[in-house]
Amino acid sequence: MSGADIGGLQTFPDALQGRDAWLDPFDWYAEMRENAPIRYDPTRQTWDVFRYEDVKTILANDDEQFSTSPRNIAGFQEPPEDEGFLLETMLLQDPPRHGELRSVVEGAFEPRSIRELEPRIRTLTAELIDEALVDANGELDVVDALAYPLPVIVIAELLGIPHDDRDQFKRWSDTIVRGADEDVDPEAFVQEQQQAGQEMAAYFLDQIERRRQQPQDDLLTTIATEEGESGQLSHREALGMCMLLLIAGNITTTHLITNAIRCFDEHDDDLFATLSDEDGSLSAAIEEVLRYRGSVQAMTRVPREDVELGGKQLEAGDGIVVWLGAANRDERQFPDADTFVPDRSPNQHLGFGHGIHYCLGAPLARLETRVVLDELLTRLSDITIAPDADLTPVRSSFIYGVESLPLRFER
Ligand code: HEM
Repeated sequence: MSGADIGGLQTFPDALQGRDAWLDPFDWYAEMRENAPIRYDPTRQTWDVFRYEDVKTILANDDEQFSTSPRNIAGFQEPPEDEGFLLETMLLQDPPRHGELRSVVEGAFEPRSIRELEPRIRTLTAELIDEALVDANGELDVVDALAYPLPVIVIAELLGIPHDDRDQFKRWSDTIVRGADEDVDPEAFVQEQQQAGQEMAAYFLDQIERRRQQPQDDLLTTIATEEGESGQLSHREALGMCMLLLIAGNITTTHLITNAIRCFDEHDDDLFATLSDEDGSLSAAIEEVLRYRGSVQAMTRVPREDVELGGKQLEAGDGIVVWLGAANRDERQFPDADTFVPDRSPNQHLGFGHGIHYCLGAPLARLETRVVLDELLTRLSDITIAPDADLTPVRSSFIYGVESLPLRFER
């Protein structure tokens, strides 16, 4: 496992190799749910789990039978001291350390704290749209103009780091979540990932040192100086926390926004004209995007003990990929699962996970996505995806979205 690897989730299954396959993995999910709902893939040496009930059972038992920590994978090799900081984050830690780490930053992400950010997020969104419209000439790339910069500016402001460096943040984050597809030279891939991890760590080390000497009113200071329930975070934990928040806080939301626009564009009704923030229909539609085309399609787990699941015997130390995206299309849970139903209710999707690792940033991601879409829908009309748009999927084996999304519109 490379220093930056988050859970060994970096190799595409054979069926998802190639650009078009990752743009539309849903037929493969359907086939797997029916014919091989829990299967062992000898090439990746991992189990794949596709059905809603099985995925949810695993996530619900994170504190007992299953773990997110790659350290529990058989044969795991400890990275050098100056690499692999993400291993020390809440995402990849088990109780009790998981809860202690989460408690350090939890307050900042509670719905009440996040609600207070709405006016600032609206102002930033309006500024970004105005800026993009200057040269737009009826077309703009929603990734460049809005969906990437907005979440990264917001998380940078929360952490207290300058967002002028955001191109750098994007390069690091994209490299770290990149999947090893067939076009990738494995050695260069590992090296690039290590370098991105090291550069990011050096950046945050400097920022943390500054906060220890001169505390500010920001999340980095909390991370740098926390002496609460958890005691002071170790050096590796503090660095990992900053890296996790920066990575998790940006591209996932970028692609919830792009995925939403694709869902609205493809729908028979003119959703761009009818969805509204006022009556809650926009929020409901965003939940459906999280189900139908969520930006996180898969996560990993490891059994801590031998477990029987769906008639299969999983051994302690085996790798498991839980396919959230496949679970979210399971007909056993969602009637008409392959149809995008903007007002679907109930909608107990797993787009933000489930159980103790349930996404800490869910209220923030929902708010940012709602504000960006609301501002677009109110300020522009006749929105469509440019007919000649070349939809290139993000080359990550668990993040789902497109690299760019050119929109046409009237003002
Ligand atoms: C965890 C999805 C946005 C921070 C997770 C998990 C999922 C997820 C599926 C569970 C991982 C697991 O069980 O292994 C998403 C999606 C997002 C999003 C789809 C956007 C649409 C954010 C944002 C932040 C964030 C904006 C923070 C700024 C985290 C953290 C965890 C997490 C810290 C780990 C929680 C824990 O281990 O207790 N996210 N996320 N996420 N997410 Fe998000």
